[in-house]
Amino acid sequence: MTPGLAVIIVGEDPASRIYVRNKIRAAEDVGVISRLFEFPSEAPPESVLGLIDSLNDNPLIHGILVQLPLPPQFNIYSVLHRILPAKDVDGFHLYNVGGLVVGERVFSPCTPYGVMKLLEHEGISVAGQNVVVVGASNIVGKPMALMVMREDATVSVCHAKTRDLAQFTILADILVVAAGVPGLIVQQMVKSGAVVIDVGINRLASGQIVGDVDFESVRQKAAYITPVPGGVGPMTVTMLIANTIQSTEHKADLIDWDAGSISGPMRSLYSHA
Ligand code: GUN
Repeated sequence: MTPGLAVIIVGEDPASRIYVRNKIRAAEDVGVISRLFEFPSEAPPESVLGLIDSLNDNPLIHGILVQLPLPPQFNIYSVLHRILPAKDVDGFHLYNVGGLVVGERVFSPCTPYGVMKLLEHEGISVAGQNVVVVGASNIVGKPMALMVMREDATVSVCHAKTRDLAQFTILADILVVAAGVPGLIVQQMVKSGAVVIDVGINRLASGQIVGDVDFESVRQKAAYITPVPGGVGPMTVTMLIANTIQSTEHKADLIDWDAGSISGPMRSLYSHA
C-alpha cells in the first residue's frame, strides 16, 4: 500500500505556503503520494469540512493535515476534530491530545516528536533532567512538556506572563524554546553545558530567518544547540512523513482482508460509521 497524504491550506499566509511546500516536497522525496487542496481565504468552513469527510472515507489517503492558522471564520477545533484520529498525522485531534496525557494516542504532534527524536539520536536521556519549555502553545509547548514528563523529566513550562524568565531558564539541563520572539534567549540565561533546542522561526525585517535563541552567544555556553533554519524545522517535516507511513502500516495491519474493512476495537478511530 503506497502511503497517501492530503494537505489542506486555506488562504495566502506566506509562511504557511512555504511550510506546506516543504511538506509536499519531503513526501515526494520518499515516495509518499501527496495531494494538495488549496482554498481561498474567504472559503466557507463547510467546504473544508466536506473535503475532510471525503478524505476520511478515501482508502488511498492515510494522513490528513490542515495547515494552521486558519482564517477567522473557522472554528479550528471543529475542523481538527472532523479528521479521523487514525488519519490525524499532526496529532491535533482531541483523541490524540488526550492520548498524549494518558498514553493511548495514535499519533504525536510532529514538532515535539521531532525534538524527542533529536535527543534520542544524540543519546541524551531526559529522565531526571530539568527540562524548561518556553512557550505553552498547543502545537509545541504543551505536547513537548507532556512528552518529556512521560520520560521522567522534571518540567517547567514558561510563557509570555512568566515573571523573570531567566530564573527558570538558568536551571535547565535541557531548554526548549518555542516562543516566537527573536533573540529571546541570551547567553546569561543559559546554564553551562545545557542542551538548547530552538523551535522558533522568525523572519526579521531584513528577510533573515532566525530562531528565538541568540545562537552565536549561546553556542559558546551550550553543550548542544540546534540552528535555525535547519535544526528542528526539518525534523517536523520528517515526523509528519513518519506518522503518515506509520498510519499506512497500521491500517494494513488492522484490515480484515476477508471482510475488506477495519475490525476490532480500533474501528471507531478509523470510521465515524
Ligand atoms: N502551523 C504551524 N505549525 C504547524 C504544524 O505543525 N502543523 C500544522 N498543521 N500547522 C502548523
